[in-house]
Amino acid sequence: MICTLMNKHTPVVELNIDDDTASILKVTKVIHLEPLPVGIPIIHGLPDRKALNDWWRGRSIPASRSGIREALDIMNIPHREQLLTKCYGLSLSDQYWINPKDQPLDWEKINFFHNPFSDDVGNALFGQASPHEELDLMSPCNTSDGWLRKKWKIIDGKRCLIKSGSNPFLQEPLNEVLATSLHRRLNHGLNHASYVPYSPVWENEIPYSECENFITPETELVSAYNIYKSVKKLNHHSSYDHFLLCCEHLGIPGMKEFLNYLMVFDFLIANTDRHFGNFGAVRNVDTLAWLGPAPVFDSGTSLWHDQVSRVIRPNGDVPSHPFKPAHAEQIVLAGSLNWIDFSALRDIDAEFQTLLSGSPYIDTPRTEALCNGLKGRVEQLERLALEQTQ
Ligand SMILES: Nc1ncnc2c1ncn2[C@@H]1O[C@H](COP(=O)(O)OP(=O)(O)O)[C@@H](O)[C@H]1O
Ligand SMILES: [Mg+2]
Repeated sequence: MICTLMNKHTPVVELNIDDDTASILKVTKVIHLEPLPVGIPIIHGLPDRKALNDWWRGRSIPASRSGIREALDIMNIPHREQLLTKCYGLSLSDQYWINPKDQPLDWEKINFFHNPFSDDVGNALFGQASPHEELDLMSPCNTSDGWLRKKWKIIDGKRCLIKSGSNPFLQEPLNEVLATSLHRRLNHGLNHASYVPYSPVWENEIPYSECENFITPETELVSAYNIYKSVKKLNHHSSYDHFLLCCEHLGIPGMKEFLNYLMVFDFLIANTDRHFGNFGAVRNVDTLAWLGPAPVFDSGTSLWHDQVSRVIRPNGDVPSHPFKPAHAEQIVLAGSLNWIDFSALRDIDAEFQTLLSGSPYIDTPRTEALCNGLKGRVEQLERLALEQTQ
């Protein structure tokens, strides 16, 4: 298929895409390179085809997504990449799409921000067949990232992301809710960082988290991963230094302060999965001006969600991402901790207990271990903050 890669209304490059595999076979023409996805190198005036392919094919649902095989069977689609062209690559996290050359389309008429979309793909991803035979595969779920089962759904006119948890404890959705409360407490009248609020949704006693889209038709989310690739890393630079250098080079404001906050937050929830795909920055797609760090999202892979109670130790350390392998090391990068109001965190373990007690997947000993664990994280951080003042 010959098509134009678009950023909203702006044509970027012309591509030849293989219909079966969704691979970019050739970049046939360059139109405007400024709105190219961040982090794609330009070699002799052409975007690097391999990097562009990684970015484009990386928009499809990852192979590791829980339940993807069954979903593809329900939809009768042999390869998950084929879902990409079914929705013209449109997403609810940015404004890139492909416009077929032989039958050009209008972004206003097809984008998922303004136009309704069917629940068929979302239902298939949750293992539910649709009542009608002819499925409508035009859905922003086709371009959603991450391995947890999830779907975009229009609720009261708002685009919402619904995420489930992983077996056996299904704890991630509840962690997102606890994380929201922690943000509220840490920000406490001040505005240290913006965050995505998650609320709990129960269906047949199964917990899900629900959050609104933080991207608008005027903005795009650029992952830290793409930002990290925008400048070649020098061997003697740490990943932290390199990332901040990339932000400086691109002109993204406020990232250092944001990371200070994020490392504190992740220390407290013992987050084990803050990889470069789980934070980023927001850019205006019309002007390409950077607005700043994206609000904190995806904090569910934390609070010993996949660990049995016996290994949850309030005084132990926990593996971390993305800058250091353990939180005790990573927190050093966060600088001064004197802004943290520990009095606002006092009874957070009690709140966690109430939240967990509603889940049939988490028994009383586990609830106790998790709440003690969380209390231990707060105490550890408070000790570190105190040491800084001595
Ligand atoms: N509220 C949101 N608004 C817009 N895009 C989002 C939102 N939440 C997540 N995303 C996008 O969806 C991707 C997958 O969501 P995420 O919460 O990270 O799922 P997972 O836990 O499976 O990694 C994110 O990497 C991000 O690109
Ligand atoms: Mg994620």
